[in-house]
Amino acid sequence: LLGVDVLNELTTFPRIIKTHLPVQFLPKSFWEQNSKIIYVARNAKDSAVSYFHFDRMNKVQPEPGSWESFLQRFMEGKMVFGSWYEHVRGWWEKKQTCSNILYLFYEDLIEDTEQELVRICSFLGLSPTTELKKQVTEKVQFDNMKNNKMVNGSADEVFDLKISPFMRKGRVGDWNNHFTVQQDEQFNEDYKKKMKNTDLQFRTVL
Ligand SMILES: *[C@@H]1O[C@H](CO)[C@@H](O)[C@H](O)[C@H]1NC(C)=O
Repeated sequence: LLGVDVLNELTTFPRIIKTHLPVQFLPKSFWEQNSKIIYVARNAKDSAVSYFHFDRMNKVQPEPGSWESFLQRFMEGKMVFGSWYEHVRGWWEKKQTCSNILYLFYEDLIEDTEQELVRICSFLGLSPTTELKKQVTEKVQFDNMKNNKMVNGSADEVFDLKISPFMRKGRVGDWNNHFTVQQDEQFNEDYKKKMKNTDLQFRTVL
């Protein structure tokens, strides 16, 4: 989300497409066009929490049920956009052979927005002025986006913002307020199995 907004602010690209699709579902024609792809991955624990609250407030997503049962389904990969584990790994592996993919981490965007903005610009071959970079960095800070009706979900009828805001907290590590000690242990053990044989590393705290 942050990533796309950075792009919208920076450029008047002919077409920007935002998608949650796993890598294997992009049509062949898409790859033939040589489009540039910016993928933003977020650590599994915060993704699960975020997704849970999103399903609670989004009237067209399935009911999440209890946090406990939702977390089990997250681990089983029974989510609308498939398994988180396969999603992040699929794009990571694709990136190894495809130079048109910039793989970003949500945690880095939160920690150092400007640095990531510089990487995005360089990937897209853009050289914005220092002033424009400053403006964009400011505009995409979470609190500013939360108060921007163009992106904060207030215009979207499928959202019930009384249940949970679309832009909730935007922090790294909020999972800590949701996972019990036992859930955390079970999750970590399962995570190790699913994420072995990959050098893809996430930060769950900053
Ligand atoms: C969305 O932005 C509008 C306009 O700035 C603001 O009035 C509203 O409270 C925001 N909604 C949420 C849920 O933060």
